[in-house]
Amino acid sequence: MFKLVYVVVLFMVQMPTGAIRKSSADISNECLHCICMVESDCKDPKCVMDLGSLSCGPYQIKDPYWNDCGKPGSSWKECASNKTCAENCMRQYRIRYQNRIGSCSRYCEFQARLHNGGPNGCTTRKSSTDVYWAKVKKCLETGLPWR
Ligand SMILES: *[C@@H]1O[C@H](CO)[C@@H](O)[C@H](O)[C@H]1NC(C)=O
Repeated sequence: MFKLVYVVVLFMVQMPTGAIRKSSADISNECLHCICMVESDCKDPKCVMDLGSLSCGPYQIKDPYWNDCGKPGSSWKECASNKTCAENCMRQYRIRYQNRIGSCSRYCEFQARLHNGGPNGCTTRKSSTDVYWAKVKKCLETGLPWR
C-alpha cells in the first residue's frame, strides 16, 4: 500500500514536468513563421546592425543568443543563416530559459518575447517586448504579414 501511494505521487509529480519539457521543445510552425516574418519578412538578410551588434539570418540571431542555445552548427553566422539550424537554436534557447516564462501564458508569446528580449523578455523586461509581441500576435491572428 505504501509503495502504491509512492508510485502514484511520483506519477503526479512527473506528469506536468514531462508535459512542459515536451511543449518547450516544440514551437508551432505558425509561431516560427510569424517570428520569421517580423524579423526579416522571412528572407535571409544576412547580418544587419541592430542596437549596436549584428543580427543574422531570417530570425536575426545575435552571437550571445547562439552561445546560449548551445552553439549548434559550425558557426554563429552559418547557423543563423540556415533556417533549420536557427530554429533548433530557438528551441534550445527556449528550453534553457523555460523557468523565465513569467506571465507569458500563451504558447507563442513566451517564444516571441524571449526571442526579442532575451532571457527576461517575459519577466523583468516584459514591457520592452510589448511592441514586438503585438506584431507577432497580429500575424498569428490574421495570418497576414505583420505590417
Ligand atoms: C542546416 O542545418 C541543419 C541542422 O543543423 C543541418 O542538418 C544542415 O546540413 C544544414 N544545411 C546546410 C546547407 O548547411
